[in-house]
Amino acid sequence: MNHYPFDVQRLRKDFPMLDKTMHGKPLIYFDSAATAQKPHAVIEAITSFYRDHYGTVHRAVYQLAAESSANYEKVRQKIQSFLNAQQVEEIIFTRGTTESINLVAFSFSQAFVKPGDEILISALEHHSNIVPWQMICEQAGARLKVIPMNEKGELSLEEYEKLLSHRTRLVAVNHISNALGTVNPIKQMAAMAHAAGAYILVDGAQSAPHQKIDVQELDADFFVFSGHKAMGPTGIGVLYGKAALLNAMPPYQGGGDMIEKVTFEKTTYNKLPLKFEAGTPMIAEVIGLGAAIDYLQAIGLDTIHRWEQQLLNHATEKLQDIPGIRFIGQAKQKGAIISFTIDGIHALDLGTFLDLKGIAIRTGHHCAQPVMDFFHVPSTARASFAFYNTLEEIDAFVQALRDAVNVLKTR
Ligand SMILES: Cc1ncc(COP(=O)(O)O)c(C=O)c1O
Repeated sequence: MNHYPFDVQRLRKDFPMLDKTMHGKPLIYFDSAATAQKPHAVIEAITSFYRDHYGTVHRAVYQLAAESSANYEKVRQKIQSFLNAQQVEEIIFTRGTTESINLVAFSFSQAFVKPGDEILISALEHHSNIVPWQMICEQAGARLKVIPMNEKGELSLEEYEKLLSHRTRLVAVNHISNALGTVNPIKQMAAMAHAAGAYILVDGAQSAPHQKIDVQELDADFFVFSGHKAMGPTGIGVLYGKAALLNAMPPYQGGGDMIEKVTFEKTTYNKLPLKFEAGTPMIAEVIGLGAAIDYLQAIGLDTIHRWEQQLLNHATEKLQDIPGIRFIGQAKQKGAIISFTIDGIHALDLGTFLDLKGIAIRTGHHCAQPVMDFFHVPSTARASFAFYNTLEEIDAFVQALRDAVNVLKTR
């Protein structure tokens, strides 16, 4: 039976990389959680900007610069509507999720964190949502606490409730774990944080490209994601923050664009959002991200989500029969990410074996070493799907894993 909600073969033609071969085999790309492939629309938007429209933003009166500024700001409006932010000023362009989190960690802590305060993160976090908080806790004399998870890779809300207190300034948690696929109950976690008088930052790197996001509905104080995981270019990311908070926070970097008036005695700062965008920004990357958002929205985030859930279910079911497979992370709610090990085979050998068959999966610790430690594994193999993947690709992947078990286990 054909379950496809759209013509996936036609859509795959939009992605030049999906037409490539690796080691003489058609590429099966199952590493979209690391970075997603790009449609022609994104590549063309960037090329056309450099070829036909190139000019700086926010600085000059000539027509090219005015057009660039207008196109750049149009993308900000697109992101506002993509996330359903209340105001366009609440959208800040950064270089990616990592930079967005660093910006909030350093700037928020200067405004709000005192010695003895606490920051909560979860046991499921990517290093990008651990290390900046460790750094600022050290600087500010604050304590970092960790919301634990269970054996399925689900956070314990009871423990979370116990950890929240009048000392908690901010909770930083991912929406979907890149290492396990767990979907966290953000709306509930935000309500609990707010009830304790704390703010919440949501790392949406793995959710924004795959499901409809409504920051007002979630009541997230900050929400961050990366362009390159959302079919857009590298080097561009988004920070959404509630205007009242962003207004209360000092700038993260100093330089051009973020100033109102500079004298040697004193500098006053620009209004949002430019207060947080120092220097000539990533103009082409912003334009490319705009094209990516248009592309995702033309398919529809609900359609994307439904289809990727079907891919996840199909793969999970088929993989059960692989001898020696152990799923790492079996939360009830999951994004289209499957982490696993196979008894007696090192994940790296598996990755290399699959690569020779043209199948790209991620192996390693997925920038989440504490997650690996929790499950007592040095690394896992991870297959992650996007809407351009097919059931047939999953079947080929499962067959390749069977072959791997036969070849690698007998060595
Ligand atoms: C959950 C999560 N957070 C943060 C990041 C860091 O994103 P970037 O490297 O684009 O800054 C990633 C990337 O894998 C991620 O999956």
